[in-house]
Amino acid sequence: MTGVGIVGLGYISGQYLQTLLPASRVRIVAVADLDPARAEAAAEQIPGCRALTTEELVADPAVEVVLNLTIPAAHAEVALAAIAHGKAVYGEKPLAATLADATRIMDAATAAGVRVGSAPDTVLGTGVQTARAAVDDGRIGRPVSASAMWISPGHEAWHPHPDFYYREGGGPLLDMGPYYVTSLVQLLGPVSAVSGAGSRSRDQRVIASGPRAGESIDVEVDTHLTGILHHASGAISTITMSFDGVRSTAAPIEVHGVEGSLLVPDPNMFDGDVQLHPRGDQWSTLEPSAGYADSGRGIGLLDFVAGPGRADGAMALHVLEIMTALAVSAASGAREKLRTSVERPSLVPLTSAETWTSL
Ligand SMILES: NC(=O)c1ccc[n+]([C@@H]2O[C@H](COP(=O)([O-])OP(=O)(O)OC[C@H]3O[C@@H](n4cnc5c(N)ncnc54)[C@H](O)[C@@H]3O)[C@@H](O)[C@H]2O)c1
Repeated sequence: MTGVGIVGLGYISGQYLQTLLPASRVRIVAVADLDPARAEAAAEQIPGCRALTTEELVADPAVEVVLNLTIPAAHAEVALAAIAHGKAVYGEKPLAATLADATRIMDAATAAGVRVGSAPDTVLGTGVQTARAAVDDGRIGRPVSASAMWISPGHEAWHPHPDFYYREGGGPLLDMGPYYVTSLVQLLGPVSAVSGAGSRSRDQRVIASGPRAGESIDVEVDTHLTGILHHASGAISTITMSFDGVRSTAAPIEVHGVEGSLLVPDPNMFDGDVQLHPRGDQWSTLEPSAGYADSGRGIGLLDFVAGPGRADGAMALHVLEIMTALAVSAASGAREKLRTSVERPSLVPLTSAETWTSL
């Protein structure tokens, strides 16, 4: 059993605990948060768990892996502190708020000989994995293109402290892009160049819920991003991520090949129907054939602990470079060539919840 220390006990931590507490592969031994009351409240719910400061947690001998669930702007600081103590680190997306910080994390981990894992792990669920199995099995023939679209009015409608979504490291691209871009890389392989365009509809947003309802927050990033991803395979993806729309009925992801088309379910979810339309036939729903069934946030950490880890730092770094290059291209108008690449991790065999919980 691997000892895990969680840093950051905010909104998303509850979903992680639902996955990790019943799993026999890990034990949560310590928790820390800038707000000690949050850490203490979490520690009380977890048998044998202590509330510590972040400095104490990363130095604690019982902590083997640091689970970094802080806001994007703090991802690098916490990851580097963990690595400095020789601890493996698995974090929420994006890997860091900037490509420079993400590169620092990966370089420090290589120098220290420790592993880095990163969300999104939704892509290890049956939705994206079943779609990938269909592509890998040639069911759409040679893949030619994909489209990915996520449109919303912005997270301030529901998140009680949405400031980080509008700061560097946030925006719709860095916030939601990891789900879509990681899926596109899982489906069509690494990306070699991108072109982007972006815009910002307004300079302030108003928090709609919670104790700060009515408060205005400043917008420091583009809130509508669109772009073209040139995959090394020759396939081309188009992507739109926006906090500046109201509703959309577009499929989250479509993949088109010379012999068929595929509808991929919401990559922010672990499952959902995958639909295939072979040439000359009609749409049908595929039975789940790959992925962790009935899984939730944290499955990537369980996969990471079992090693080598499919939601890994190399994938997260490539995905972050794709997203930051889209933003650079949006600002300059020029096409950006990428420096990083990644090998697609192995397909996840279809694994029941009973199996992944008890491994
Ligand atoms: N909210 C969601 O629906 C959602 C979904 C998937 C992933 N995520 C990702 O999860 C991460 C956290 O999001 P959230 O919504 O839980 O945010 P949140 O603001 O609700 O929680 C973050 C927590 O981290 C703590 N924290 C911040 N900086 C810290 C530091 N330097 N040291 C220790 N603790 C620190 C904060 O006090 C807070 O308790 C982000 O990377 C986000 O992209 C969020």
